Amino acid sequence: KLTVEDLQLEGKKVLMRVDFNVPIKDGVIGNDNRIVAALPTIKYVIEHGGRAILLSHLGRVKKEEDKPGLSMRPVAERLSNLLNKPVTFVPTTEGKQLEDAIAKLQNGQVLVMENTRYEDVEDGEYVKRESGNDPELGKYWASLGDVFVNDAFGTAHRAHASNVGISANMEQAAAGFLMEKEIKFIGGAVDNPAHPFVAILGGAKVSDKIGVIDNLLGKADKVIIGGGMTYTFYAAKGIKIGNSLVEEDKIDLAKEIIEKAGDKLVLPVDSVVAEKFSNDVESKVVENDIPDGYMALDIGPKSVELFKNVLQDAKTVVWNGPMGVFEMSNYAEGTLEIGKFLGTLSDATTIVGGGDSTAAVQQLGVADSLTHISTGGGASLEYLEGKTLPGIAAISEK
Ligand code: 3PG
Repeated sequence: KLTVEDLQLEGKKVLMRVDFNVPIKDGVIGNDNRIVAALPTIKYVIEHGGRAILLSHLGRVKKEEDKPGLSMRPVAERLSNLLNKPVTFVPTTEGKQLEDAIAKLQNGQVLVMENTRYEDVEDGEYVKRESGNDPELGKYWASLGDVFVNDAFGTAHRAHASNVGISANMEQAAAGFLMEKEIKFIGGAVDNPAHPFVAILGGAKVSDKIGVIDNLLGKADKVIIGGGMTYTFYAAKGIKIGNSLVEEDKIDLAKEIIEKAGDKLVLPVDSVVAEKFSNDVESKVVENDIPDGYMALDIGPKSVELFKNVLQDAKTVVWNGPMGVFEMSNYAEGTLEIGKFLGTLSDATTIVGGGDSTAAVQQLGVADSLTHISTGGGASLEYLEGKTLPGIAAISEK
C-alpha cells in the first residue's frame, strides 16, 4: 500500500479526499476536529510542492433545497484559518469554472471544491451520482489530478465516487497520514492487539453494536458493557430494569451473548437512577435491580471500580460508546471516570472510536491523555466489526 510519502508531489495536481463532514448549523461549524485531523497531510502535500485539490462530502444532499445549507464554503474558510493561508473555494463540483481554477493553481496552493454530494441531486432529482459511485463521475474527478491521496477515514465504509471511484481511475492512490494512523490503531487493535485486550462497549442500543460485540468477543480478553444497552443484558439475566431502556426483541440475543461469552463479559453492578430522563430531578445509586418507576442513566461507583480492576493490566483498550447519558452532568461521572482512568494507563494503547464516545471524551476533557481518538463514526464501527472498508481496500489494491 502506498502512503503520501511514497508520492512524487512537486508540481503535481494532488487530488485529496478528506472527510470534512463536520457538524454545521446555519453555516456555523460546531466542531472542526475532522478538519484539524487532516492538516498534517494537507501541509505535507503543499510543503512538498503539490497543488492540493480537496474533495469532501458534507451531510446528506437529497433534494435541491438541501444544497445551500450544506455548502463547503464555511469549511474552506475554516481550513484557510487553520492553515493560515488563502484557500480557493470553487462553488461547483464539475465543469469549466472548476477546471479553470485547477489550471490556475500553483505549487503549494490549496483548492476546495463544493460538496461532492451536490452530485447526488440533479435537476431536482435524487440521482446519487456520488453516493451511488457513478463510474463516469469517479473517472471525471480522477481526470482532474495527477495523483490521489485518500485521507478520509471517516468515509472509508462508503464506496462512493469520490473515494472508491477516483481510486479505481488513478494510477497512484495513496493513504494520507490520518488514514494511516486510523489503520494503525484501529486495524492494529482488531488484527494484532497486545494482550490483555479489553473492549469497552457502551451506548444506547444492543442492535447498533451486535457486530462489534460479536467480533470483539472473539478477540478481546474481556468485554465490558456499559450505557443504555446494559439493561437489555439485565433483562436477559432476569435482573429488574424498572423503566430503563430495553430492546425487547434483542433480549434473546443478549442471552445468547451472555452464554457464549462466559466470564469474558463484564456487566455493571450498580447504576445511577432517576425517575425522569432529566438533569433536574434527584438521582440515586442502586445495586443491580432498578426499582419500579426509575430508569438507569449511568453506571454507578462500584461498576467504575470493577471496570478499573479489569482495565488495570490491559495493554490494548478499545472504547466505543459512552457509559451513561454524559451530556447531562448528573450522569456523566461513569464515562468521565473511565476516561480519566484510561489516561493513567501508561503501558496501554487506548483507542476511542465511534461518534458518541469521541464526543464524550472531548467534552469531558480526557481526550488528550488517550492514545488515539478516531475521526470515524460508522467507519470505526464497521472496522471494529471486522468488515473490509471499501475506501481502504480501494487504495490497498493500488
Ligand atoms: C460520517 O460522518 O460517518 C461520515 O462522514 C460518513 O457520512 P455518511 O454516514 O453520511 O455517509
